[in-house]
Amino acid sequence: MMLVTTVYVFVIFVIVSDSKKFSKELPNFPGLYAMGYKYLTRKERESNGSRTKEELRPSAVMQKLLTGYVRTDPPSFSTTEVELGVYIISFYSVNEQTMDYSVSMYLRQKWQDPRLDAFSYMGNKSLRMGDKGWEKIWVPDTFLKNEKGASFHSVTVDNRLIEIRAPTTVWYVIKISATLSCPMTLENFPLDTQVCPMSFESFGYTATVMNFSEFKNQEFLETEKKVEMPQFSLIAASSKDCSSNYTSGIYPCLEIKFYLRRDLGYFIIQVYVPSVLIVILSWVSFWINVDASPARVSIGLLTVLTTTTMSSGARATLPRVSYIKAIDVWMIVCLVFVFTSLIEYAVVNVFARKVARPPKHFNNPPPLTPRLPPHHHIHHSGGCGCGNKGSCIMASRDSGNPIVTKCCIVSVFS
Ligand SMILES: *[C@@H]1O[C@H](CO)[C@@H](O)[C@H](O)[C@H]1NC(C)=O
Ligand SMILES: *[C@@H]1O[C@H](CO)[C@@H](O)[C@H](O)[C@H]1NC(C)=O
Ligand SMILES: *[C@@H]1O[C@H](CO)[C@@H](O)[C@H](O)[C@H]1NC(C)=O
Ligand SMILES: *[C@@H]1O[C@H](CO)[C@@H](O)[C@H](O)[C@H]1NC(C)=O
Repeated sequence: MMLVTTVYVFVIFVIVSDSKKFSKELPNFPGLYAMGYKYLTRKERESNGSRTKEELRPSAVMQKLLTGYVRTDPPSFSTTEVELGVYIISFYSVNEQTMDYSVSMYLRQKWQDPRLDAFSYMGNKSLRMGDKGWEKIWVPDTFLKNEKGASFHSVTVDNRLIEIRAPTTVWYVIKISATLSCPMTLENFPLDTQVCPMSFESFGYTATVMNFSEFKNQEFLETEKKVEMPQFSLIAASSKDCSSNYTSGIYPCLEIKFYLRRDLGYFIIQVYVPSVLIVILSWVSFWINVDASPARVSIGLLTVLTTTTMSSGARATLPRVSYIKAIDVWMIVCLVFVFTSLIEYAVVNVFARKVARPPKHFNNPPPLTPRLPPHHHIHHSGGCGCGNKGSCIMASRDSGNPIVTKCCIVSVFS
């Protein structure tokens, strides 16, 4: 009777404890576990227990997906469309001398691989492949066509990511820093806008295997909010298909063009304003007395030399291209201005001395006055200290400087 009652109480308790009312509480009841009864919370019951949870682990799903997967085979027999997206982190060191620029970016690639159908295991969740996933599945062999040097980043871990997004989309993101060549035309320097390309091409897969396109649903080209460059502003970007027909076949290619406009600030401060001031400085000599040769010559020479130095300084960062640049035109015009003001002094000086010198026809009279016998008109006129030896300058001492005032021949004819 006692035993029956005990069993009865047990059965009642089991029923009560399994009812919804007490489902949140797990009474520690060693006897029940001993009998093989396992209590499950509602959540655990709904997710079908720990067996299902283990199957949801990424590693387990990857293992299932990769059984029988051959990574050297392209995803499908038809053309695989690889969507490209670029996120620019920073531009730096646009260099005219070597005609290149450096950029730091996230390269995002996205394609469909029907073999990696994770939906049946994961639903719509995304599956991040762990360590070196890019060595386990097919990835496009994209390379930067106009690259001079580039590097991946690996601090603190490899800055790469492969993610499988249901149903079969593969995302591949890499952080790259690259120096890319950018053929520059400097005719308008420093008022120029450079068009710098970034070309992605497939190294080994021809256009029948894969092709490139821009991101369809996401932004194709993004930049950090403020891309700062010392001398340029990024004003626009465009992209075009640059697939080329090589001897070994047609290879897919996508080219992005960045339009970089040079900021004039540096050149206004360092070149334009100083050169204008130096040209104005060279005009100062026009107000200085003709006889002050040292002052006028040194102003002229100094301004010419400064302009020459400044002109070579302004072109120091440029390659030695053979065509005329806008800065050359400006500097040449400045040089012509200061040069002519030096030449002007030379001319003025010569004329001043001409006026000061005795006229040449004093000893050889001009044909206009041959009738007059020489001794008739060469005689002293009042106040003019002319002798018959031909010195016709009368110098009067005025504040210490000899100044030409009169010439005898004038007084003779008048
Ligand atoms: C839980 O298991 C049952 C029976 O095996 C199955 O029908 C149900 O789909 C499973 N639920 C989940 C979420 O996997
Ligand atoms: C790339 O290939 C896909 C699939 O064949 C095609 O739909 C798409 O138009 C192609 N894109 C280009 C740019 O050729
Ligand atoms: C999964 O994604 C597909 C396509 O985007 C959508 O139609 C479906 O409703 C999603 N399912 C769940 C459970 O979110
Ligand atoms: C590519 O070049 C080859 C050889 O010059 C030519 O036969 C072929 O038609 C070209 N293909 C295209 C798409 O231009």
